[in-house]
Amino acid sequence: MRVAWWEEAVFYQIYPRSFKDSNGDGIGDLPGITEKLDYLAELGIDALWISPVFPSPMRDFGYDVADYRGIDPIFGDAGDFAALMREAKKRGIKIVMDLVANHSSDEHPWFTEARASRESPKHDWYIWVPETGAPPNNWKAVFELGSAWHPNPGTGERYLGTFTRHQPEFDWRNPELRSAFYDIMKYWYDLGVDGFRLDVATAYMKDPELRSNPFSFRAIPDFFQKHLHDRNHRDFHAVFREMRQVADESPALDPASSSPGERVLIAEPYGEDAELAASCLGVAGDELHLAFNFEFLKQPWEAQGFRASAERWYALLPKGGWPNFTLGNHDKPRSAWRYRSRKPGITEARAKLTAAMLLTLKGTPFLYYGEEIGMTCQRLPKAALRDPLGIATWPLGFLGRDPERTPMQWSGASDGGFGSPSPWLPMNPDWKTRNVEAQEADPGSLLSWYRSLTKLRREEAELRHGEIRFVDSEGEILAYERLGERPDDKILVYLNFSSRRIRIGIGKELRVLLGSHRAPGSLVAAGAAELGPCEALIAR
Ligand code: GLC
Repeated sequence: MRVAWWEEAVFYQIYPRSFKDSNGDGIGDLPGITEKLDYLAELGIDALWISPVFPSPMRDFGYDVADYRGIDPIFGDAGDFAALMREAKKRGIKIVMDLVANHSSDEHPWFTEARASRESPKHDWYIWVPETGAPPNNWKAVFELGSAWHPNPGTGERYLGTFTRHQPEFDWRNPELRSAFYDIMKYWYDLGVDGFRLDVATAYMKDPELRSNPFSFRAIPDFFQKHLHDRNHRDFHAVFREMRQVADESPALDPASSSPGERVLIAEPYGEDAELAASCLGVAGDELHLAFNFEFLKQPWEAQGFRASAERWYALLPKGGWPNFTLGNHDKPRSAWRYRSRKPGITEARAKLTAAMLLTLKGTPFLYYGEEIGMTCQRLPKAALRDPLGIATWPLGFLGRDPERTPMQWSGASDGGFGSPSPWLPMNPDWKTRNVEAQEADPGSLLSWYRSLTKLRREEAELRHGEIRFVDSEGEILAYERLGERPDDKILVYLNFSSRRIRIGIGKELRVLLGSHRAPGSLVAAGAAELGPCEALIAR
């Protein structure tokens, strides 16, 4: 059986501003990431997705790109990127970049040229309507809470920007624009990058008639509109097929390998629609390799809810399509915060439980930096906010995205080991006790648990690519088997979502591979067994 690397890999998202600052300017950088590769290797990470490091005015912290081939000096230079690639390869770690291709920065030279005159060759790379009269529809700039149509007096037009006015959107129906992006992708493939996470990929195509979006009752993530016409217009499939072809035709990274699809393309769909996510893979397996299904990010703490969500995801994927799971990213409150309890011990135990689930379900796991030490969120004072969405929606609690972007907590030192006395966002005050250094020294810590889980995945093929079969169980227990090639090869996973002890029935004696409450190698006798509060048990 041929298994693609990205089906087996454990991915880890780095938000580079917040990971490790090597030069003390308050902002994390590429040399900082390189410095921490040994840490990542020890954590059992196979691939990094690095949020954008391209030159950017940072109106949306890199999700507004001014040059798709460069590195922003704040993060380093081309030499630093090459060094990161080299050192990552040495450790067997792949690098996936974050391509923001739905829009550029308004400071990108393409847009400067486009907005100067209707006759400019780049003009039609962006989307325009005449300035006269009201905007053509109800589309919103969601980070500004105003119209998405921004005046450009120089040409007497308005341009489209559905995030901020500083992120003008491309016209992906324009063939020249498309080939410009495929050249950018080839440029990075030639430098050896292993793939791209495609920012708001399902938004590339807009409704050709620019129809207004219908009303939605949901504030988040809809902003009271169903994004049928400004985002998620199904014409994106044509682009995905072309991007896949470019990826498949890129030179093999490993000359010894003859497998196509060595470069991975991962869609960020807009919204929380698993069906839309599944559709990004195409029916014939000729579109993207993976797509984020964000259902787990809004899933309440219910074992059967997680089960139903996973089953729905498996059922929606096209034949041959591969699932992936994530608990967090730079746009959503952290999982340790979402699943917190008033009792700190339970919060900690729940973090172990979700880690076990993420790393044993069938599908590629994506971790978000700091998740492995249980970093949480805090409400920030208005003066500390940096995210345009957070500033526009203050004081509406956790709508802003700064709380999940605070600096990585490396140690109990005065700068938290991040590398600067005044980081761009304040450290979470719990850094003094919750940090990598402290957890490395503690075999019972969340970090040690993550390490054991990734190690187990590497050892046990069933956990990486075995089929999954859910086991009917008491409501608060999530139980499943991961199946091997032979009928007897199977690993059982029991996750007790409740904070009390629960009795379960065990068919035949089990040997513990890893457990939150039991030692590896210990036996669980057939018959009735009792799972402790929030116990995670992985056994054979
Ligand atoms: C994606 C990114 C988010 C960004 C937005 C606009 O959703 O994850 O951080 O603000 O796109 O690029």
